[in-house]
Amino acid sequence: MRVAVAGETQQGETRVALVPDGVKKLVELGYEVAVEPGAGRAAEFDDADYEAAGAVLDDSPFADAALVLSVQPLARERIRQLPSGASTVSFLPITSQPDQVRDMRDCGLTAFALELVPRISRAQSMDALSSQALVAGYRSAIVAAGMLRRFFPLNMTAAGTVQPAEVVVLGAGVAGLQAIATARRLGAVVRAYDVRAAAAEEIQSMGAKSIDLELESLEGSGGYAREMADDRAARQRELLTPYISAADALITTAAVPGRPAPMLVTQEMVETMGNGSVVVDLAAESGGNVEGSVAGETVRIGRTRVWGGRNVPSSMPAPASRLLSANIVSLVTLMTTGPGGEGDGGSQRQGEAQHGSGAMFAPDHEDEVVSGCCVVRDGEVVHQPTRELLEGGS
Ligand code: NAI
Repeated sequence: MRVAVAGETQQGETRVALVPDGVKKLVELGYEVAVEPGAGRAAEFDDADYEAAGAVLDDSPFADAALVLSVQPLARERIRQLPSGASTVSFLPITSQPDQVRDMRDCGLTAFALELVPRISRAQSMDALSSQALVAGYRSAIVAAGMLRRFFPLNMTAAGTVQPAEVVVLGAGVAGLQAIATARRLGAVVRAYDVRAAAAEEIQSMGAKSIDLELESLEGSGGYAREMADDRAARQRELLTPYISAADALITTAAVPGRPAPMLVTQEMVETMGNGSVVVDLAAESGGNVEGSVAGETVRIGRTRVWGGRNVPSSMPAPASRLLSANIVSLVTLMTTGPGGEGDGGSQRQGEAQHGSGAMFAPDHEDEVVSGCCVVRDGEVVHQPTRELLEGGS
C-alpha cells in the first residue's frame, strides 16, 4: 500500500510532511513510501536521504496512492489526480481554502486536518498545532532579539552597566511560553499576560513575571481562552498600556480557537513605546493581536518597528518538519492495521481497508481522534463547521 509525500507548492512553504526518519517508520509499518523528487530540499533533506531511508522517488506519486501526506492542502489540480477513495493528511484551513475541501468532496476522497486533532493526552504525540507553535514561539523571541538594536541581557562592564531589555509577552499558550523561555535564556527581563488563570503559574515557571490586571479570567472549554466582551477588552487594553509603554520588545501570541485573533494592542498603545522598540505579532496572519501589523512585513508605527509573522515555522524548516513528521507518523500509525499499526487489526472495515505488503490504512472512525480530525469521509463532508461554511458558499 502506497503513501505519497507531496512536494509543497504554496509560496513560502519550506517544510515537508515526512522527513527521512519518518519514511523509515512507515516502511517498517509495511507501507511503500513514494516521495516527489525535491520534496524535502527546502527543509534541508536531500532526495538521497529519502532513498537511503527506503523511499522511492517518483515524479507522479499520486495516481496509485492510498494516502497522500503534505503540509499545506494539495493544490486543486493535484487533488484531481488522486484515485477516488484515497486519503489525505495535511493542515486544512477550511476558512481560507474552502475550494480544496469542495474538490476533495467531489473527488470522493477522505481528508484529515492536522489542526483538528483533539488535544487530549492520548493524542499529544499527534499534536501538530503544539509542535509548530513551539517553533513559532522560539522564533518570535529570536526575531525580537535580532530586530532590537540593543542587548537582551544585563552586562556589568568596566565601562558601566548595560541594563537588560524589557520584554512583554501577551498570550502564554504553547508559543507564548516558548517565547518567554527563549527571551529569558537570552537574559531579558520578561513580563507576560494571559487571560487564563492557569497561565500565571506557567509564566512564573519559565522565569518571567506574570502581569496581574485583576480582571476576571476567561477560561473556556478544554483549557482554552474564551472570547472577550468589548468592555473587558477595552479595560484590558487600558491596564496593559503602561506595561507596553515600558517594553523594549513586545511579542504577541494570543489566539482563541475558531475565532479571529483578539486585537489586544491598538496603534495608539504602540505609539506610547520608546525609540527603537520592536513588536513581533505572531497572530498577524489570523487577524493580528496588534492593530496595523501586516503578515509577512515589517511596518513602522510611531517609533516602533512592527513585524507581522507569516508561516513562521517555515523559517526553521528542518526542526519544524522533523516535529511535524513525527506527529504525522503517530497519526498514521493510529490509523494503520497490520503488523506495526495501532488500529483494530481484527476488524477490516469495508470500503476503507486496502491490502498491501503488511500495512493497511484503515482509520477507525469510531475513534475520537480519527473522527475529530476527519473533514471529508469518502466524499462526504463530515466536519459540521466545514459543512456549514460550504453550504453558505455553494
Ligand atoms: P492558542 O494558540 O489558542 O492561544 C494562545 C494563548 O493566547 C492562550 O494561552 C490563550 O489563553 C491566550 N489568549 C487568548 N485570548 C487572550 C487575550 N485576550 N489576552 C491574552 N491572552 C489571550 O493556545 P495554545 O497555545 O494552542 O494552547 C493553550 C492551552 O490549550 C494550553 O494551555 C492547554 O490548556 C491547552 N493545550 C492542551 C494540549 C493537550 O492537552 N494536548 C496541548 C496544547 C495546548
